[in-house]
Amino acid sequence: MQEYLNAIQQIRGAFNAEFERFNIFRDRADETLRELSLDETEKLLRELEELTIKFEGRKSEFAGLQKTIGNYPSEARPTIGKANSELKNEFAEIWKVQGILQAHVLRLREERERLDVTIPGRRLRTGHLHPITLLRQKIENIFVSMGYAIEDDREIETDHYNFDALNIPLGHPARESQDTFYTTDGFALRSQTSTVQIRAMERRGAPIRILAPGKVYRRDTPDMTHTPMFHQLEGLCVDRGITMAHLKGTVTQWLRRMYGKDTRTRFRPSYFPFTEPSAEFDFSCFQCHGIGKIDGDRCRPCKGSGWIELGGSGMVHPNVLRAVGVDPHIYSGFAFGFGLERMTALMYSIDDIRHMFENDVRFLEQFR
Ligand code: DAH
Repeated sequence: MQEYLNAIQQIRGAFNAEFERFNIFRDRADETLRELSLDETEKLLRELEELTIKFEGRKSEFAGLQKTIGNYPSEARPTIGKANSELKNEFAEIWKVQGILQAHVLRLREERERLDVTIPGRRLRTGHLHPITLLRQKIENIFVSMGYAIEDDREIETDHYNFDALNIPLGHPARESQDTFYTTDGFALRSQTSTVQIRAMERRGAPIRILAPGKVYRRDTPDMTHTPMFHQLEGLCVDRGITMAHLKGTVTQWLRRMYGKDTRTRFRPSYFPFTEPSAEFDFSCFQCHGIGKIDGDRCRPCKGSGWIELGGSGMVHPNVLRAVGVDPHIYSGFAFGFGLERMTALMYSIDDIRHMFENDVRFLEQFR
């Protein structure tokens, strides 16, 4: 029997030698666990599992020893039994440490998978207005504040509104430079927003102050500065006693509110069939403020000239007023028109206006 008890003692010694390093997790759990990562804890649990198999498993020394009990006289059984259960109690310490470590693993996993409410939300991809629309609205706001009404009208027109009523009779060279797209039954896509001058005056007569933005069409081959469809903005002011000074003052005020108080304007004599006299208007470059140079280099938007050519203007031709039944002896007015694509391209340094109609979000997203 002593033999048996000696063997138990030996197993106990071996077990304690191997298990000793785990005691700390039970005795000082608070400090030791704080340092323990998930990986480290899982590794310790695997080692404990191996320890269980080694000391309590079917092929363990202890299991082998227990099979020899039959060799001992029955009086020895209580003593042997007591020694066995004492050893098993010591093995049970493995479970305690396992329990502690498993709880730690659960805690760590939970922490890792926990919903972090402090993470910033993912931004939804919302749409936004097109750069042409943004510019159009900005200009509209300025003119509305000066008492202008926004006038929207049709894109499909007859020759009468696109040309004749605007003092461009058949055979006039201006028709050729504004060749557009025709339908089979005498309609055409308007080549200029000047058509709205006629439509609006027919409807409202004089006095009138309108701003007419919209799409226009021309039979142009697309290139960096041309697209067959583009946008124009037309202004018209007809009243008693309107002079060229009103035209200059209005255009200058508008551009100053767009580009700053120091903006200057310039009117160069020109020709348009529906105005007399006619002028093209320029404004001092928003980038170099008319100097033509930026840090010694040639300024880009104005190509070094200090001026940006924007559009056409003039005093409404008496024939145009007559065409809509407004008496040119009582009323006079000014009109102006310009393209939005060119203005947008200059403001944002867009080298090719075709980008504006390709609907590539990588391009469009820059104009939020
Ligand atoms: N309609 C002209 C064009 O497309 C622009 C223009 C010039 C409009 C003079 C006007 C104007 O109202 O007075 O080129």
